[in-house]
Amino acid sequence: MFHAEPKTLKIEKKTKPSFEKKLYIQSYGCQMNFSDSEVVASILSKEGYTLTPHPEEANLILLNTCSIREKAEQTVRKRITDFKKNKNNNSDLVIGILGCMAERLKSKFLEEEKLVDLVIGPDAYRDLPKLIKETHEGRKAVNVILSKEETYADINPVRLNSNGVTAFVSIMRGCDNMCSFCVVPFTRGRERSRDPKSILKEVSELSKSGFKEITLLGQNVDSYLWFGGGAKKDFLKISLEKNVKKIDFADLLDIIAKNHPQIRIRFSTSNPQDMKDSVLKTISKYENICNYIHLPVQSGSSKILKLMNRGHTREWYLERIKSIRKHIPNCGLSSDFITGFCNETEEDHKLTLELMETVKYNFSYMFYYSGRPNTFAQRQLVDNISEKIKKRRLQEIINLQQKHSLLRNQMDIDKKYEVLVEGVSKKSNEDFFGRTSHNTVVVFKKKTAKIGDFINVKINDCTSATLIGEII
Ligand code: SAH
Ligand code: F3S
Repeated sequence: MFHAEPKTLKIEKKTKPSFEKKLYIQSYGCQMNFSDSEVVASILSKEGYTLTPHPEEANLILLNTCSIREKAEQTVRKRITDFKKNKNNNSDLVIGILGCMAERLKSKFLEEEKLVDLVIGPDAYRDLPKLIKETHEGRKAVNVILSKEETYADINPVRLNSNGVTAFVSIMRGCDNMCSFCVVPFTRGRERSRDPKSILKEVSELSKSGFKEITLLGQNVDSYLWFGGGAKKDFLKISLEKNVKKIDFADLLDIIAKNHPQIRIRFSTSNPQDMKDSVLKTISKYENICNYIHLPVQSGSSKILKLMNRGHTREWYLERIKSIRKHIPNCGLSSDFITGFCNETEEDHKLTLELMETVKYNFSYMFYYSGRPNTFAQRQLVDNISEKIKKRRLQEIINLQQKHSLLRNQMDIDKKYEVLVEGVSKKSNEDFFGRTSHNTVVVFKKKTAKIGDFINVKINDCTSATLIGEII
């Protein structure tokens, strides 16, 4: 799942509450966090909060945090220290930590570090109003209980920082995969899926409000399974007791695509061991499901994949890629990579470079390994690759990816694509940008197009990051 730069999220509320409750909320990390902040904004708008883009105006500052790598946590700590200064000028100010860092560090934030007033984990956001009240009564408030059921299915998210065209729709929460390097199963708990009826309702509402594209979100979307609610791990037990009807990810995609032919559908993230051909067939069946799959591999070496507890080998992964290419020609592909994982030799690293050569991804998210507390890798394996080597290997895969991104984009020159206009280009006010079905950004002269239009574009040129085209 894409880890974005921190962004300030803002909404304006039409009706002014009788007393001033001003919330500043900032999200870090994955798309799921950004989506969760929309749930939080919805819960708090019912409590009379309006959002402000200025932290110094706020009496409630919430940071929705990320624990995935050490660096992400350092960034948040620095930000909290900055906000503490605002507290000196405003004694009513409540500072709260949401998300994965809250879950990981729990009351440590309150007791030892005395940094914040409120700590609340990803499954406890319904408790926010109560906890805020407790902080006003002078108590430090914390709820980091993880749930087997919570999906916030009935909460209609307040769309934050929205372009009015694209939106996230969360379809599942948690992850059961236990990759040995990953903190997510600890911070976000067990896998559970959201009721398809509530997903369809949310998509209908987005469509009515003029949205044109949705991204279905989950840590492991291909593992989506609706059987009436609850942890996926309990499904086997329940299915043995009675003959339960189930809806898997291919079914869900089919239902949404069929019911909303005017909406473009994306999803993230797929994990190789769970991505079935039935999903690929559904993608190829519907025009409105985008031809793009983010399929993180992490490493090209089966030895490392085993140590990572990835549940798939290099060969399995490459077979999945073959199947994607067979079912969906011209499918955009991206991946995540970790360099310098425990025991990674030069040979293993070369296997990663070779795998990249075989697949030639459109783009990738690349990181060097950092040990995360409580994970299997941190407890049982030795972080024995020096930072220098980790970073050198990272640079090598970044360089190779850049070459492949350019190559993939060059292959698109002279082709025609349907593009959804998402906004004004950052570089020029005269240009719009949008994305193709295979998820490449295209920049083009505005002409008479409007944001939210589907337009046809001919590609004339490119960089490694962007296609440059013209409306035809
Ligand atoms: N399945 C999830 C993965 C989330 S983590 C999803 O929705 O995409 C995103 C990426 O961060 C992982 O794929 C991995 O490449 C990287 N990552 C996770 N833990 C890491 C660690 N300890 N060190 C370095 N990179 C890590
Ligand atoms: Fe993490 Fe692996 Fe799940 S990377 S989110 S444990 S699929």
